Amino acid sequence: MRIDKYLANMNVGSRKEVHQLIKKGVVAVNGKTVKTLKEKINENDVVTVNGEEIAYQKYHYFLLNKPKGVLSATEDRSQKTVISLLDPQDRYQGIVPVGRLDKDTTGLLLLTNDGQLNHELVAPNKHVAKVYRAEIAGVADEETAKTFAFGMMLGDGTKLKPAKLKILKQDRENATSEIEIEISEGKYHQIKRMFGAVGMKVTALDRLSMGNLHLPSDLKRGKYVELSLDEIKNIK
Ligand code: URA
Repeated sequence: MRIDKYLANMNVGSRKEVHQLIKKGVVAVNGKTVKTLKEKINENDVVTVNGEEIAYQKYHYFLLNKPKGVLSATEDRSQKTVISLLDPQDRYQGIVPVGRLDKDTTGLLLLTNDGQLNHELVAPNKHVAKVYRAEIAGVADEETAKTFAFGMMLGDGTKLKPAKLKILKQDRENATSEIEIEISEGKYHQIKRMFGAVGMKVTALDRLSMGNLHLPSDLKRGKYVELSLDEIKNIK
């Protein structure tokens, strides 16, 4: 691979910025200063910029605060997907969302090209806890919490694992509630269907955490941060 492409891929800077670094003479391969943008490197070469090693990173992990109105998919003919929220240089081959959030659901969504980790987080037998905050049309109460804690049955016969419901606010006059819910599976429209099964409607849904990964409070909707391997290692 060409040195300039490698450095841009490793997020050292844009192609233009990388070219400037090379011209400045601060890029070296195996200790030798790089003189041309076209220099080629292979996987055993040690690349440094200002003496600091730029190691090859195969997998990338992005934590996105998903806004409403975008699909948790990689491509769609007519609709915007979460991939389009990544800067072009971060759209690594194979980057996909880990699981799905509905189009109108907001909050924490991990994107990665690490297929193994993706599988470990979404496989049904892994039971990674996911916490959501929701606004509900209906009065969620202790009865609702008991029904969810027991492991309820949906209308189509799907049996769910126990879920923890925390009631944050109840407005009996207007028949609305605010809740936090923890589930350990990811069935299609699961939370909306759970409330639907007890005669209520989810009017807003926001994911706060997945395993040990929490949505940073200063991460704006539509924005994302890259996580290091260390940060991702403890997710389960
Ligand atoms: N449950 C839902 O109903 N929708 C989501 O997006 C996530 C969980």
